Amino acid sequence: MTFLVLQSVSKRFGAVTALDDIRLSVPQGSRIAILGPSGSGKTTLLRVVAGFEPPDAGCITLAGDVLADGRAAMPAHRRGVGVVAQDGALFPHLSVRDNIGFGLQNGDAGRGGRVAELMRLVELDGAMLDRRPDELSGGQQQRVALARAMARQPRLMLLDEPFSALDTALRASTRRAVSNVLRHAGITTVLVTHDQAEALSFADQVAVMRDGRLLQVGTPQDVYFRPVNREVAEFLGDAIITAAELANGTAACALGPIPMDSGHQVGPGTVMLRPEQIHLAAIAGEPGVPSCSRPCVGEILEAEFAGAVCTYVVRMLHPGPGPAGPLVIRQPSNRLLDVGTTVRVTVTGKAHVFAGPD
Ligand SMILES: Nc1ncnc2c1ncn2[C@@H]1O[C@H](COP(=O)(O)OP(=O)(O)OP(=O)(O)O)[C@@H](O)[C@H]1O
Ligand SMILES: [Mg+2]
Repeated sequence: MTFLVLQSVSKRFGAVTALDDIRLSVPQGSRIAILGPSGSGKTTLLRVVAGFEPPDAGCITLAGDVLADGRAAMPAHRRGVGVVAQDGALFPHLSVRDNIGFGLQNGDAGRGGRVAELMRLVELDGAMLDRRPDELSGGQQQRVALARAMARQPRLMLLDEPFSALDTALRASTRRAVSNVLRHAGITTVLVTHDQAEALSFADQVAVMRDGRLLQVGTPQDVYFRPVNREVAEFLGDAIITAAELANGTAACALGPIPMDSGHQVGPGTVMLRPEQIHLAAIAGEPGVPSCSRPCVGEILEAEFAGAVCTYVVRMLHPGPGPAGPLVIRQPSNRLLDVGTTVRVTVTGKAHVFAGPD
């Protein structure tokens, strides 16, 4: 069931259009990630849903209740929406116990038990209850902020870059913990992030945002493997994008003939592959035909080692149709290739064809 709906929501700040005709549907109990670069309008989107900013136009409904429709807006505290702000925003002078219990009734006999339950839920040790926020690590503070937002049993949870202050390892484990907590509680969640791996791993739906507009909304696999254009493709990860001649369901390009993921286009086009679809193997020393006379053969022009992956700049010896340039291809670094090596380039899977102009 569709739960949160935004219809043609717009918001301007002077000359800046922070939200431009946003249309979004979020099913109940699901998780959506809003992914976009800095300044693209992500926080503004959360703020209009939370009720901290009125939209200039459009309509927002939650479980059929109108939150804002251009004429009237429901006050933020009546929306049943939990918010974890970009900076966590804990009350610095209150203990962990009082931060989490802030929204609960003071005289409530069950208050202590509920706070303890929330602590368990976000995997925090009860020994921390009497500490103040400045006596906690960044990751612990973010878990307290989450517990505080969950205390009122929100219908909808809005998370604004809640993991951004954490280092890589803690970020991944906190993300998994938070994700599990929200999933088990069945809380519909909107996560804002500019980290594509975070968006792809956390959410059922990813909405890619740029300059106040939603460029694409889809499942993580849709937006990653079938981006609408070059911009979305490159924003979601490494992409090998090259010109191709399309015919009979096959894209003929610098990497050879590759089956297309949409069979109907014909003529010149642009295709995209992800690096994990490509395999480079040295062919120097193979007997028989000289390597330069075979298709799908290239030469390593540059190699940059970066730990788990190695980035190669490869010049194809038989460039495909359209403007030819070296390809940048990242590969696992378990088989390092030297500059000057002749390589066979093998592609698995299908080439994604951009529907419109790339
Ligand atoms: N209260 C405000 N007054 C004026 N301009 C604002 C206001 N809030 C946001 N903006 C502008 O609206 C645009 C979108 O801002 P927003 O905070 O939504 O971006 P964001 O995607 O959350 O960025 P970041 O990733 O840096 O947090 C920016 O150009 C910003 O400067
Ligand atoms: Mg922001």
